[in-house]
Amino acid sequence: MLLRIIWYYIKGYKIFEILTLLSQRYGSIFRLRLFNKHIFVISGTTTIRKVLLDKRFSNRPYISLIHQTLQSKGIISSNVNKTFKQNKQFLLNQLTKFKLINFNKTDSINVNKTDSINYEKLYIDSFMRLLFGESILSKYSFKWMLDFISNQFKTNNLLSFIPSTKWFTIRYILRFQSKINIMIKNIISNKSLALKDSFIQNYIQLYPNIDQLEILLHDCIIAGIDNPINTLRWLLVYAALNPLIQKQMFEDYNQNKNSNKIDLFINEVMRLTCAGPILIPRETTEDIMLNNILIPKGAFIIINMWTCMRDKDYWDSPDEFLLDRQFSNNPAFIPFGLGYRRCPGSSMSKKLLKELFTKILIDYHITINKNRGYQSIFGIGIKPLSTFKLNPRLE
Ligand code: HEM
Repeated sequence: MLLRIIWYYIKGYKIFEILTLLSQRYGSIFRLRLFNKHIFVISGTTTIRKVLLDKRFSNRPYISLIHQTLQSKGIISSNVNKTFKQNKQFLLNQLTKFKLINFNKTDSINVNKTDSINYEKLYIDSFMRLLFGESILSKYSFKWMLDFISNQFKTNNLLSFIPSTKWFTIRYILRFQSKINIMIKNIISNKSLALKDSFIQNYIQLYPNIDQLEILLHDCIIAGIDNPINTLRWLLVYAALNPLIQKQMFEDYNQNKNSNKIDLFINEVMRLTCAGPILIPRETTEDIMLNNILIPKGAFIIINMWTCMRDKDYWDSPDEFLLDRQFSNNPAFIPFGLGYRRCPGSSMSKKLLKELFTKILIDYHITINKNRGYQSIFGIGIKPLSTFKLNPRLE
């Protein structure tokens, strides 16, 4: 199997594509061996759903990249325990307060009808305001976060997902994380900042535990920027590459603001582009029999979500971009995961993606700039290689 993996890798397949090809040959549960560690790869909607809903698959294995920085606290690196549940519930509550900074304001972001919107900065600024309070926007530049997101795509980031030792620690990610740490510590210790009703102030009032708070903020920055921004990039690329569909969505929205065309478009783009094709690995808490296969306690579990989004048992012509699909009752449509480790940012992201995309659609013609079709590069998420231009609509 190892030779096969190397062969696919040389041929340019991305890691989630390689695992998909292997699952077609070896089934929905197969085992790889790496440095004396057994890795079980889970594929296909039915098996993936069983795993996601089973608490015995919800712990995290040791991965140096994650544990060196997140220290098994907060949400991402923590096992499912009482503090994890508190943190997740707290994050969910706070995210319901998310609001995009007003588009027409020019104070913190230079946005007007003749500029191309820097929507990535718009989102980051809005998100940082939620986490840290309004007052820090003028004091901190978040350009380095965007730079990091671009940089992480310089490598095919396979190493982030395997049970690794310190040799594999990717230095630039650690540098980024230490920069976040310094920023968070500065903000928390700076009493002069007006953090009224911010994430920080609310957390300290409920749980006076600064260590957990720092890691939780860190979690938010790691998990809450990359996926939404990549999904937005894909929405704009798909709109640019399909001008007729873009026109129909625009006209439809102008006639009926409640039309569901934009929702269907967003769902279909999320399905095809799958922001997080490989979930952060899990570890089993006991021996488990799954589909007649014994998965031992302490096994390292990789879940390949790509195989849900393109599962031919659940989608007709799964590789095609079709806008008349049924999403609401389709068990394979789980872009935010499911169960104990489901994404706490799902409601906020759905709202954000719709609001931001609709606003861009009605104000701008979205056209292609660098045309690389639907090609992508895989880092932690999947980023499109095509780029687009936003030209103000004159009508
Ligand atoms: C388009 C936007 C987003 C997508 C597609 C997305 C998708 C996902 C997925 C697939 C998971 C893994 C679920 C699992 O392992 O079962 C996840 C986890 C997570 N997401 Fe999101 N996410 C998005 C936005 C956000 C935002 C805005 C936040 C805000 C902080 C966020 C915070 C998290 C956290 C903290 C986790 C870890 C949950 C855990 O380990 O229990 N996500 N996300």
